[in-house]
Amino acid sequence: MNTAPKIAGDVKDLALAERGKRKIEWANQHMPVLQLIRKQFIKEQPLKDVRLSTCLHVTSETANLAITLRDGGADLVLCASNPLSTQDEVAAALTKDYGIPTYAIKGEDNATYYAHIGAALDHRPQITLDDGADLVTQLLTKRTDLVKDVIGGTEETTTGVIRLRAMAKDGTLQYPIIAVNDAQTKHLFDNRYGTGQSTIDGILRATNLLIAGLRVVIAGYGWCGRGVAMRAKGLGADVIITEVNPVRALEAVMDGYRVMPMNDAAKIGDIFITVTGDKSVLAHEHFEHMKDGAVMANSGHFNVEIDIPALEKLSSAKKQARPFVDEYVMKDGRKLYLLGDGRLINLASAEGHPASVMDMSFANQALSVEHLIKHSSEMEKQVYGVPEAIDRAIAKLKLESMGVQLDKLTAEQEHYLSSWSEGT
Ligand SMILES: NC(=O)c1ccc[n+]([C@@H]2O[C@H](COP(=O)([O-])OP(=O)(O)OC[C@H]3O[C@@H](n4cnc5c(N)ncnc54)[C@H](O)[C@@H]3O)[C@@H](O)[C@H]2O)c1
Repeated sequence: MNTAPKIAGDVKDLALAERGKRKIEWANQHMPVLQLIRKQFIKEQPLKDVRLSTCLHVTSETANLAITLRDGGADLVLCASNPLSTQDEVAAALTKDYGIPTYAIKGEDNATYYAHIGAALDHRPQITLDDGADLVTQLLTKRTDLVKDVIGGTEETTTGVIRLRAMAKDGTLQYPIIAVNDAQTKHLFDNRYGTGQSTIDGILRATNLLIAGLRVVIAGYGWCGRGVAMRAKGLGADVIITEVNPVRALEAVMDGYRVMPMNDAAKIGDIFITVTGDKSVLAHEHFEHMKDGAVMANSGHFNVEIDIPALEKLSSAKKQARPFVDEYVMKDGRKLYLLGDGRLINLASAEGHPASVMDMSFANQALSVEHLIKHSSEMEKQVYGVPEAIDRAIAKLKLESMGVQLDKLTAEQEHYLSSWSEGT
């Protein structure tokens, strides 16, 4: 009989832990702001004995957030926020070496994905941390018995914030949520520079295509889309943007890109990247007109931006061309390629955002959890922004870590800028 104590959590293989630990330590080197917060948390123990259920992409950067929360005194468990984004070695190390039970296996099926969220909820959270709002949705629809213990939550991404605002509007939301995504030190950097670089990285790792000279069609010119477009242009692509928002479309035109409807772009694109948070952005009518060899990837939160059932219907055969690259043969003989099952390509075939950008996003997470512990009793069942003082403090710490200094307003300038009578 195996008498070893059973370790809570469900990971692919605990033997991967050593590799995961090295990866976590490497990321830590590039997360100076989180390191400072951890030092302060160790001293002050602001999260002492607070139960946290966290549903985030299980990466080496997330591991450093989880360790910071644990070091602040929290009692936490972690599950995946996406079936394809887990780094199995990191999940193993968290569970085995850092005492943080983790429920996540890369490539898990839908039933396992939701079973893992269920396991994280069994922890009876007082605070939830979510990325895409799947954990909160399960809690509020399937596990309503748990609501009475919850004092608040945080949400990491644009799509989750949209879902939670809709819940607050119709009265479904049962506790305050801080929208970490809305912090300037999150979306201005994580969505733009993090998603921008890592989306291209994911496409390159999956395909090894030369981007120079290709027509890259990017659907959505939001924070992520701007970043992806900037990096594709830098690699020599002819970038085309599709949009539904006239202001964003105008911005894309003035940034030097061609803007056109997807119906037109579909006929000429070589690579298509969706980053809208919307559904069926690439659909039946587009697949019908795409060129032979066209490649499609999604970097928006859910795998509904590319209508995969429609693609399946239109095709007569499907095979894996390379890892993370599925080849669909259309009935007229054209071959179309879908990357990473239409899931976030930067996490499916690459490693997600680099640590130095997640440093700021996760500093916002850690300080928002602390804020909830101190202030949730004064908050309504609404979605809140990150307090501006936290946002500014994080920007200041990040600049300090980079050795960058800035000017200070003189007393005369402060007076001038706060007065309406000056300047005449
Ligand atoms: N891959 C990652 O690691 C990562 C990181 C951050 C955010 N995200 C996700 O990426 C998505 C976009 O995030 P964001 O911060 O850029 O959001 P955003 O709101 O700033 O931008 C989305 C843009 O898409 C446009 N859009 C909506 N429907 C469209 C359609 N049918 N065709 C063309 N354009 C359309 C909107 O007008 C908007 O300008 C979200 O799902 C978000 O959760 C992913």
